[in-house]
Amino acid sequence: MEKNEKVKKEDEEKKLSIEDIPGVGEATAEKLRENGLDDVMAIATASPKDVSDLTGIGEGAIAKIISAARKIADIGNFETGEEIFQKRKDVLRLTTGSQNLNNLLGGGLETQSITEFFGEFGSGKTQIMHQLAVNCTMPEEKGGFNSDVLIIDTENTFRPERIIQMSKYRELDSDEVLRRIHVARAYNSHHQILLGEKAGEMAKEYKAKLLIVDSLTSHFRSEYMGRGSLSERQQLLNRHMHDLLRFGTLQNAVIAVTNQVAARPDVFFGDPTAPIGGNIVGHTATFRIYLRKGKAGKRIARLIDSPYLPEGEAVIQVSEDGIIDGT
Ligand code: GTP
Ligand code: MG
Repeated sequence: MEKNEKVKKEDEEKKLSIEDIPGVGEATAEKLRENGLDDVMAIATASPKDVSDLTGIGEGAIAKIISAARKIADIGNFETGEEIFQKRKDVLRLTTGSQNLNNLLGGGLETQSITEFFGEFGSGKTQIMHQLAVNCTMPEEKGGFNSDVLIIDTENTFRPERIIQMSKYRELDSDEVLRRIHVARAYNSHHQILLGEKAGEMAKEYKAKLLIVDSLTSHFRSEYMGRGSLSERQQLLNRHMHDLLRFGTLQNAVIAVTNQVAARPDVFFGDPTAPIGGNIVGHTATFRIYLRKGKAGKRIARLIDSPYLPEGEAVIQVSEDGIIDGT
């Protein structure tokens, strides 16, 4: 409670409007807002080309605006280790529903980071996303954030029926839980990117502390097939992931994304268990969890490449009640 109030107060103190950026008049402000660029930090951290493409304003003029936004937004400064440590203290952890998996992650999914779950079809990625959504609405003392949730659903796999089952098991009011989950269907990768940008705007309304993208890579994978389009795909994915990370940092929110492995019967080269998106996704996601199937609904979660946690495994169980410990 105390912490939330502190964050809120800091937000209010820092509140600058985009008209405060030197060079941004009424007409420019309107164009920026129409395209979801309605806060100084979002503009300060955007690329001139992206903003120019979105708004139709020339790249030179936009570069000046971005540079002015950077000055007033107070970014681009080096921070001391002490300051970073202070920010780290604001990091919250969201329970996964399984104590085993929480322990593997040092207590749960961290805010201000992206956590990626990858694995083959049916490995439980979507089930875990449903469980995280339910958990996020739970009170802090139960490992939740008592907050709303945003879900970008690219495969049309969100099922309210599952939310109801999981809520009942946790003795939550399922109607209330459903009311706090906001789902947007993304029809293609471009739409997905726009929704990622829009999430910041939505958070002002809902104070969501969890943003889910399920699946992060499916549209990109199907739309950019040949080797020739690989670099374009990677660039777009990179930009999308940075939008997500920015949301996580600004809102002190958890970002959870799913990714399939590249195993396909028609692919005979490369590592069949390699996640899609390769280095771009790997470098931007702070925590990567590889899921593989075990017997009778069991799933083995393996933590890979964590910045400070030891590698290890946890056994979880996918059940009608949701995600629980496996044995
Ligand atoms: P893709 O999106 O296809 O890559 O797979 P995914 O990793 O998202 O798999 P998902 O989370 O959809 O897992 C599906 C599996 O979860 C099913 O094969 C079932 O084993 C299990 N599952 C889903 N719903 C239930 C349920 O209500 N009860 C039980 N016991 N298991 C369920
Ligand atoms: Mg899925």
